[in-house]
Amino acid sequence: MDATPRRSATHSFSTYETGAIMTDTTTTTIADLTLEEKASLTSGGTFWMTKPVEWAGIPAIMLTDGPHGLRKQAGESDHLGLAESVPATCFPPAVGLGSSWDAELAERVGAALGVESAIENVAVLLGPGANIKRSPLCGRNFEYLSEDPIVSGVVAAGLVRGIQSKGVGASLKHFAANNQENDRMRSSSDVDERPLREIYLRGFQRVVEDAQPWTVMCAYNRINGVYASEDSWLLTQVLRDEWGFEGLVVSDWGAVNERVPSLAAGMDLEMPTSDGATDAQLVAAVKSGLLASSALDVAAGRVLDLVRKAQARPEISAPLDVDAHHALAREAAGRSIVLLKNDGGLLPLQKTSSVAVIGVFAEKPRYQGAGSSMINPTRVDNALDEIRVRAGEERTAYAQGYTVSPKDTADAAQLRAEAVKLAASKDVAVVFLGLPAAAESEGYDREHIDLPDAQLELLDAVIEANQNTIVVLSNGSVVALPFADRVPAILEGWLLGQAGGSATADVLYGTVNPSAKLTETIPHRLEDTAAFLNFGGSDGHVRYGEGIFVGYRWFDARALEVAFPFGHGLSYTSFAYGDAVASVTEDGDVEVHLTVTNIGDRDGREVVQAYTSLSNSSVLRPVRELKAFASVALAAGESREVVLAVRRADLAYWNVRAQRWVVEGGEYVVDVAASSRDIRSSAIVHVDGDAFAVPLTRESSMAEVLAHPIAGPIVQSAMAGMAGMLDGATSIMPEGVDMIRMMESFPIGRIGMMAGKDFSAEKIDQLLAAANAGTMS
Ligand code: BGC
Repeated sequence: MDATPRRSATHSFSTYETGAIMTDTTTTTIADLTLEEKASLTSGGTFWMTKPVEWAGIPAIMLTDGPHGLRKQAGESDHLGLAESVPATCFPPAVGLGSSWDAELAERVGAALGVESAIENVAVLLGPGANIKRSPLCGRNFEYLSEDPIVSGVVAAGLVRGIQSKGVGASLKHFAANNQENDRMRSSSDVDERPLREIYLRGFQRVVEDAQPWTVMCAYNRINGVYASEDSWLLTQVLRDEWGFEGLVVSDWGAVNERVPSLAAGMDLEMPTSDGATDAQLVAAVKSGLLASSALDVAAGRVLDLVRKAQARPEISAPLDVDAHHALAREAAGRSIVLLKNDGGLLPLQKTSSVAVIGVFAEKPRYQGAGSSMINPTRVDNALDEIRVRAGEERTAYAQGYTVSPKDTADAAQLRAEAVKLAASKDVAVVFLGLPAAAESEGYDREHIDLPDAQLELLDAVIEANQNTIVVLSNGSVVALPFADRVPAILEGWLLGQAGGSATADVLYGTVNPSAKLTETIPHRLEDTAAFLNFGGSDGHVRYGEGIFVGYRWFDARALEVAFPFGHGLSYTSFAYGDAVASVTEDGDVEVHLTVTNIGDRDGREVVQAYTSLSNSSVLRPVRELKAFASVALAAGESREVVLAVRRADLAYWNVRAQRWVVEGGEYVVDVAASSRDIRSSAIVHVDGDAFAVPLTRESSMAEVLAHPIAGPIVQSAMAGMAGMLDGATSIMPEGVDMIRMMESFPIGRIGMMAGKDFSAEKIDQLLAAANAGTMS
């Protein structure tokens, strides 16, 4: 039970309503607080703020969205937290920024987010999101970075570093296995251990280990039946004990199911407010002995640490430099646009060409997704204006082409006819297509991956009228591109934030040479995708039946044709890759060296990718897996040595029997590539395996025993003595039947009854003990 608190701390007034953070730090510790005060620290006071303890000089701090801009509600927050927020720079959402494959760029964007948060007295910005894009159907894919954990982890770590460099905390979310929106507050993501570790947690692990976010936000969903908010394995064993997380776990807004078990599991701060109801539950649980008071001390202590970190934030001078941040948003958007195809070098456009600009998104861009991440932008560029600036009013004409708003009752046939007439009269047609805002949103999933029929019909008609048709896409998650073979050029513009319009013009006219690459595969059909049969789930469960075969890992394993592969993206210049050489460093990592040359006449940037594979692995593995990448700027004609660092830990697979990561020894193939299906050079490197073997038991199969470094040779020689017996048996079997293979799945504990005294129970036990002692020491 708590001692009487010592009310000795310096007094400071409440900052509860304003969010202003007092720099007036005190020496108050958790031991100074009453049980009730400690409990009160562990849940929100309002929708966005923690609670103060006024006498102790502990102010309330604000945590707010996030992730690609600051969404701070100006006045009273409505209970959904969706009302208008203060103007802030809307940077490209994750779907765009991730396509840059550039942690350094992400860090600069993060730093700008940190500055905006600091100016508004926000202690923690709720992002980035590092969930894997398991299916193109997830309504919230625009907030996530990739179908690959290394891309997600590396870029998200850059964002976290940037945000936190300004003394503002990041909140890595949504931890974990939150890969769909339907039923997200109840559904159980039923994931086997290998995919959970190797795909769904690996990116989070990378961010925690590399960037130590101040907070991690636990997801709404359950994982294998257990709510993330109550999962001590997830929140304590994995996150803290294994990965070394030092910060605070905050709930997603409303993610707490039962407060007492959640706190015991390591869920420190419940958001938003429960108006004290769950604080009272914690107090009662401590009083009745149901909850250890030390557990509450730990959680409240972490909240206090977070407050102290926020109070230590260095002064940032307001006001916000709106222009500078808009310029950064434009640079980031330019780096987010993927040039999918460019036949005959149709792009970049000549300023002297006349242009038919078609499609409502050219004038009214769709630049972010719906839900809690919606930023109130400081301004919004549109591509039409920017094209007019470059080509001149007289050479530019615009047609709306189609409608996206349910309120727009314009006639589709008439809109199409106007657009076609315009296309026929100009040198080129730039057709902006994309998903209406309601087609993808937080809170619900998509049902298909098709663009609206009216847009596809419009495009068909425009192509007939003008062969020089360029498609510019605006979509937060992948769409099917049935027209891909029929248009010469496609820009995948994703959602690009407030400067996306000008950035699109930058790329169309070559002011910016495109360098982004796909962080997710574009399939031909939804039916081809890995989670097609079990996405969404039923009865509160969604089975991750595709296992580790997510995204390109699936398409490659099934040798499926795709529209555009993971890692693909073109440039207005070309790059030559030299021979890759791979070696193991002193730390055991693999380093890949090669020379990359810009062989065109334009400056550019190439994302060089390294994939590994191990052909004789003892476990099922993808054909190849991304392990490292680098975004390399090269002037026209420039050559540069590129070094790709593959971490030894990233070569490991999760060994389910031993419950640990294992690096298998062997000859690893390292493919250096311009995309997952454009391998430019390969090297082989020998990697020593971990000094480890799965402990043998009587249940171990003969195959496992034979593969064991100590037991294997002993059993082999014992079996040599049985050769006569096996020969006899073989002689009565049909020709070619392999008796040794037949025995491979036999548990060694049961071999004795078949093979006699050479395999007595006693001898087997001795053998197993010696083998285990030899390999486990
Ligand atoms: C979302 C989070 C968000 C929070 C606060 C939740 O519904 O899942 O991503 O940070 O609301 O708006």
